[in-house]
Order: sequence, then C-alpha cells, then structure tokens
Amino acid sequence: MKELHISEVSEEIINELPGGALLTVKSKNGLNTMVIGWATLGRVWNKPILTVMVRFSRFTHDIIKDADSFTVSFSTKGKLKGAIAGCGSKSGRDIDKFKEFNLTPSYVENIESPYIAEGDLHIICKIVYKNTMEPELLSDEIKERWYSDNDYHTIYYGEVIKVLADE
Ligand SMILES: Cc1cc2nc3c(=O)[nH]c(=O)nc-3n(C[C@H](O)[C@H](O)[C@H](O)COP(=O)(O)O)c2cc1C
Repeated sequence: MKELHISEVSEEIINELPGGALLTVKSKNGLNTMVIGWATLGRVWNKPILTVMVRFSRFTHDIIKDADSFTVSFSTKGKLKGAIAGCGSKSGRDIDKFKEFNLTPSYVENIESPYIAEGDLHIICKIVYKNTMEPELLSDEIKERWYSDNDYHTIYYGEVIKVLADE
C-alpha cells in the first residue's frame, strides 16, 4: 500500500462514485459499511475535505452520528462488485456485512473507523463538521425528486487525513 496526495486521485474519485464506494464507520454504536454514490471533494478551512451524505433511515446513520471518523473505499478494478451490490441494498441492522461479503476491516493509527482491505483506494477522514439538511432551504426540484419520503441526509465533512492505494 502506498500513500498518495488527494489531488492525485481526485479525478478517479469523481469517476468511480457513480458505481458506488464503501463508506465505513465505527463508533461506540458499532461498526458498519454501506454504499455511497454521492460525495463532494474540495478545500474548506484550508483543509482537504470530503463530504458524504447519509440518510436518517440508514443503520450507518446510527453509527456515524457518534463517530469521529469515516473512511471511503473504492474498488477501481471491480473486485468488490458483489459487496457493493449487497452493501447498497442490505442493512447492517439485519446482517453482518463484513461476514456476509468477506470484507476485512483494516485500521490506520489513531483513526477509529477502518477501511475495507479488499478495496484498492481508500480515503481516511476525520469528521470536523456535520449538518442536517434543512428542507425549507432546498430547491423544490431536488426535494420532489429525492426526498418525497422526508428521508433527508445528514452531511458529514471529513478532513482527509490519509489516501492509501494499492501498489
Ligand atoms: C450506488 C449506490 C449509491 C448509494 N449512495 C448512498 C448515499 O450517498 N447516501 C445514502 O444514505 N445511501 C446511499 N445508498 C443506499 C445505501 O447504501 C443502502 O440503503 C444501504 O443498504 C444502507 O445500509 P445500512 O442500513 O447498513 O446503513 C446508495 C446505494 C447504492 C446502490
């Protein structure tokens, strides 16, 4: 595994997101991974920031609300296709996704949330801010398209601490 700068993988991240990536979180409430397809990457507070959006209904929401970190693992060579299909449709409330999809949590020093070892590109983030969407501030178009069930997102801002990639 080699360490990269976020700017070396930003294009790859944007291109890979539509196919799904694994957001993994650990806190006192447990450990879980789920698929995300939406994220933003940029610079805020003079820090590289990756934001992820987790709907209230997700089991992951129960965990990330008390977490101080998250990771996002990509599988750029398609190795995690099965896991991405399963982790994007099944809930950690019902199954242990690590067992079910043969995923290995792997840790970096001083960060509670592991990354998924079977991925090949990992973004390790420390949560520095979060906010919950305010429906009254949202455009009607997006509200009607994505939130007809009132299942809004909390947005987590992660300072990118480390970027790891397969050699
Ligand atoms: C391609 C894809 C992208 C997804 N992106 C998101 C996302 O950005 N945010 C979100 O809350 N759910 C997203 N989901 C849905 C969750 O992954 C799914 O509901 C999952 O089963 C939640 O697992 P959990 O209950 O264990 O947290 C996505 C699903 C797929 C298949």
